[in-house]
Amino acid sequence: MSDILQFLQERNSAPKLTEPGPDSEQMEQMFRAALRAPDHARLRPWRFVTIKGARREALGALLEECLVRRTPDADDVAREKARKAPLRAPQLVVVVARVSDHPKVPAVEQRLSAGCAAQAILLAAEASGFAGVWRTGAAAFDRAVMDGLGLTDTEEIVGFLYIGSRNGSPKTLPQLDPVDFVSAW
Ligand SMILES: Cc1cc2nc3c(=O)[nH]c(=O)nc-3n(C[C@H](O)[C@H](O)[C@H](O)COP(=O)(O)O)c2cc1C
Repeated sequence: MSDILQFLQERNSAPKLTEPGPDSEQMEQMFRAALRAPDHARLRPWRFVTIKGARREALGALLEECLVRRTPDADDVAREKARKAPLRAPQLVVVVARVSDHPKVPAVEQRLSAGCAAQAILLAAEASGFAGVWRTGAAAFDRAVMDGLGLTDTEEIVGFLYIGSRNGSPKTLPQLDPVDFVSAW
């Protein structure tokens, strides 16, 4: 089996991430991979917002503020979890779908394309010796969070990608068999 095939078959997320994160050159390589996402009609229905360093604390403040707005009775534990969430990795990327009306490309295809871009970033992060995890949660669907991140009304959060160095060994991969998921028609 080729190294690339083996790499693809062993990709896995890292819930625990630490320093160092990628530098700007390494991030650029990941975004170049994202820009090769399949894209019907070349709409480029995605963009990427990077957050690192002290800006993660600003994001934490936004997440906490929006949590309290969504759930006024959120307790201190929940508030702290929201506030500290962005500190779980040195580098965050918000993958944004830019959904527009198009006669041949429905919104779902544009969102799928943005999802492919997210996966490309995760693969490229791992190919660069880093690791990552894709997270969403209620914050990702909260318009106030999107507003705070500067998204327009037609933009949506596809995911928060947490990227950094893997903290601990990779987990045991589930032994899935294609035979359980594939059928000939
Ligand atoms: C759209 C999307 C949203 C996700 N949101 C979360 C999340 O909020 N929290 C979480 O722990 N995992 C989330 N995951 C799952 C992880 O990214 C990861 O795929 C999962 O932990 C399985 O690990 P693996 O990728 O190594 O198989 C999400 C995955 C996708 C595709």
